Amino acid sequence: MKSLLIITSLLAITVDAFTATTGSKTFARRSVGVQASTLSSESSSSTYQAPLSEITKRRNLAIISHPDSGKTTMTEKLLLYGGALQQAGAVRHKAEQRATQSDFLAMEQERGISISSTVLNFDYQDYTIRLLDTPGHQDFSEDTYRALAATDQALMLMDAAKGLEPQTRKLFEVCQLRSIPLFTFVNKMDRPALSPYDIMDQIEQEFGLEPHPILWPIGDGDRFKGVLDRTTNTVHLYQKAEKRGAKAEATEVALDDEQLKDLIGDSELYDKLMEDAELLNEMIPPLDMERVMIGKQSPLFFGSAMTNFGVQLFLDHFCRMGTEPLGRETSKDILITPDYGEFTGFVFKTQANLDPKHRDRLAYVRIVSGKYEKGMKVNHSRSKRQYNLAQAQALFGSDRTSVDEAFPGDVIGINNPGSFAIGDTLYSGNSPIAFPGIPSFSPEKFAYIRAPNPSDYKSFKKGIDQLLAEGAVQALRQRNDENGPLLLAAVGQLQFEVVQARLLSEYKVDSKMEPLGYSLARWVDGGWEAVEKADKDGKLFGIMIVQDQWKRPVLLFRNDWKAASLAEEEKYLQLKPWSAPPAMDD
Ligand code: G4P
Repeated sequence: MKSLLIITSLLAITVDAFTATTGSKTFARRSVGVQASTLSSESSSSTYQAPLSEITKRRNLAIISHPDSGKTTMTEKLLLYGGALQQAGAVRHKAEQRATQSDFLAMEQERGISISSTVLNFDYQDYTIRLLDTPGHQDFSEDTYRALAATDQALMLMDAAKGLEPQTRKLFEVCQLRSIPLFTFVNKMDRPALSPYDIMDQIEQEFGLEPHPILWPIGDGDRFKGVLDRTTNTVHLYQKAEKRGAKAEATEVALDDEQLKDLIGDSELYDKLMEDAELLNEMIPPLDMERVMIGKQSPLFFGSAMTNFGVQLFLDHFCRMGTEPLGRETSKDILITPDYGEFTGFVFKTQANLDPKHRDRLAYVRIVSGKYEKGMKVNHSRSKRQYNLAQAQALFGSDRTSVDEAFPGDVIGINNPGSFAIGDTLYSGNSPIAFPGIPSFSPEKFAYIRAPNPSDYKSFKKGIDQLLAEGAVQALRQRNDENGPLLLAAVGQLQFEVVQARLLSEYKVDSKMEPLGYSLARWVDGGWEAVEKADKDGKLFGIMIVQDQWKRPVLLFRNDWKAASLAEEEKYLQLKPWSAPPAMDD
């Protein structure tokens, strides 16, 4: 196990403090009474300490799903129950969304939560919830992955009729890499569904994740009556809301109540429910939050976002079971807990020209510890320079409001003078802090890009440099050919469309793209030496060899099969589907 230091200004053991360690990662909500390091004493008098009450009430969540599983619907319903929306349906207009794919700025405005928004904030009961948007759907992009770097837990949303689907699998891998705690919601139970046992089997077999049913369905399709809450043995029977988008009416009745059979009104379903309840009690190991926290067990909920069955119950359980903001390890294995007495945070997304009138540039910062205060000075780990955070914005969909203070778990948008890039750390105080960079994941689309008109070259370069700095796409080149053709790599086609649209609208440059027939990238452990050896032995036939922005070798494959067969010959190359930026010197 790695040696670990916890920086904290609190020496006392906090009552519900939590830590768990996996092979590669340590989480901590707050200080656990570990001897404070020498770094903490100077910070104990800091004015940037976050009050405990602000930390404990925060919950953040990112939703991962395959297109059409109901992520937008679920998001709306969570906002509806959180009081942030009067009526679900107000957030999106799907027909409009689809019609505007090719125009990025219009796309930004029209789509509301689907692209530009980064976080949706709402209060629910005593909690403050940050719903991190993972732009997904048909618009799959690297932003989806990056949102997962900023969250402390995720909700895996599945379509009850379809089970696990490709995009869920991809996103699950990312969650697994960071051992992100995962809640699972099986949606669309109001339609004919797979057996809940089959769904549980799928999750367990494919992901090695043990589902632990909390809400269990009573019937499916037209016979979907409601759910059993296994934590209280209470059955919730729903009436569909008359008006689409309104909250559903529910009747609560104890599982052993003799009226239950009549209330369900379907003796077959009643018998099945009683049988299931007993079987599950015998078969399912107890819920173990420590295993949930390291991504080994997943609280499982069945319901229907569209008809509101089970949504509020999920929200209640999530607030209670979900974690408050977690600390993060620095690149030197120092754990920064949210109650560390200084402000720390990292940039997980940047975006320019959000508002075309002002040509502003924003960096989205996830706060790890301490308090943001308007006008505070922070250090920028990469440049070692100081910046004044004169103004930060809280984000809700496409609306932005200025904030005077923000706390761990929050995402703030700060003005980016052009110096902040994805993965950068900002911190107050004198102890240098640098969190590890955010990994890149295998792109699946590759295309050369150029400006057909030579006189546009200067603007083209300026635009491309800015977009690459924002991480809009990844850039690859031939080995040792800095001025050679630029190969763009993206997770989804939309990223290319965005680059072209923005070059045109913001830099007035027309661009041409030439797609390449590769569909997968792998980074190589062992560097160029290993690649050269494999190449000499004729193992890289049909594989394109390029370098990433840190001049590390990347292999491009035409299909999964080719990558898998090369990976099997382990003596040649160790292939990785993701790469982390080189550690920064902190
Ligand atoms: P996404 O963001 O994951 O892509 O999914 P979205 O919420 O847009 O939902 C995809 C479709 O599935 C929508 O239908 C939506 O109404 C439907 N849906 C979502 N949740 C449920 C559910 O619990 N039960 C049922 N039966 N359907 C659900 P659509 O026809 O594409 O759009 P719309 O006309 O309903 O807006």
